[in-house]
Amino acid sequence: MRESDILEVEIIKEINCSKEVALWNYWDHEHLDVVHEGYKKSDILYDKNNFMFRVDNIKVPFPFLKFLTPVFMVQHDENTLFTYAVQMGVISKTTITVNSKTNSSCEIIMNYKFFLNGWRKILKPFLKIMIPKWNEKVWLEDYPIKMRRQKVVDMNFKDFKGLPSKISSRSKKNANGNSFKLPVPRPINSSRDLHPLSIKFRSKNSK
Ligand SMILES: [Fe+2]
Repeated sequence: MRESDILEVEIIKEINCSKEVALWNYWDHEHLDVVHEGYKKSDILYDKNNFMFRVDNIKVPFPFLKFLTPVFMVQHDENTLFTYAVQMGVISKTTITVNSKTNSSCEIIMNYKFFLNGWRKILKPFLKIMIPKWNEKVWLEDYPIKMRRQKVVDMNFKDFKGLPSKISSRSKKNANGNSFKLPVPRPINSSRDLHPLSIKFRSKNSK
């Protein structure tokens, strides 16, 4: 195993949403197959506290080609999120670092590492071109979700509760700003929890 077998790509962006909103977006698994064109199906098998294991059915930019990829995510510390995945026999490690700039802006450093040993070396030129393209596509798909989340968090929105009933309470001065706490709750019978091997799977026969 050699370090030279690693393809590394780093992309840095700034966005007008808080660090908490940016992190929430990474851990809001509900939106995956609704918002992202590349995700056909996404099954969470286990999640707890700061980690999650999931199996995604991904569509790649070749006609009719889909493949299954196991994904492990962990919120390593306050700012850093690691995602390990295996795509078509290639191990990847994504490091997301979110640095707060102001209450409503942050910097996101997205570092991708692909382990391309043996025959996988031939994928290097392809991945070098495709990773920034894929990143930009996912970024644009996620962008309105983050903007919307920031807007409602500023209006004192609470998950599963909604906006305050008093209109005068729907303001920034009433909002506590911190909308991110793991695990991000999902509705009962979420479409992320339908795999029969999922820890949250509820059999139709169970009461
Ligand atoms: Fe997303």
